[in-house]
Amino acid sequence: MSNNKVSRRQFLSYTLTGVGGFMAAGMLMPMVRFAVDPVLQKKEGGDFVLTEKKIADITEVPERVDFTFEQVDAWYKSDITNAAWVYKEGDEIIALSPVCKHLGCTVNWEADPAHKNQFFCPCHAGRYEKNGKNVPKTPPLGPLDQYEVRENDGFLEIGKAIPNTLV
Ligand code: FES
Repeated sequence: MSNNKVSRRQFLSYTLTGVGGFMAAGMLMPMVRFAVDPVLQKKEGGDFVLTEKKIADITEVPERVDFTFEQVDAWYKSDITNAAWVYKEGDEIIALSPVCKHLGCTVNWEADPAHKNQFFCPCHAGRYEKNGKNVPKTPPLGPLDQYEVRENDGFLEIGKAIPNTLV
């Protein structure tokens, strides 16, 4: 027969410690979950946003395509509208960011009558070639960013902006 009898004091001590620990875990778990929940959320469909632009309608002339996605900033959700200049180069679909690499204004296709077949930034007369390459001796010092693109059931999906791969 064992001599390790548990005294009444020890029994109460173990019981209260166990119950106290259980209650503390019950209170802390929701707080921890609340704190890390946005980090654990899975993004559906990856980083690509479905647009209303049909692949078949894309031509060799750059056309502005707007797209909206939901941005989650911690617990705050908002709809962000972005744009891309989209055109076809052979079978390849190109989508360029409209954000000027000088100071961030929005560039437009053939907005300067003196320079056809180029993107033009109205803020400081920055210019870019069709592939996004900045025209030397204009303010921008780098090419327009490019968006990742893919097709989804005949429609264009636009992904994240990446450095221009065309120049
Ligand atoms: S912001 Fe585009 S040229 Fe200055």
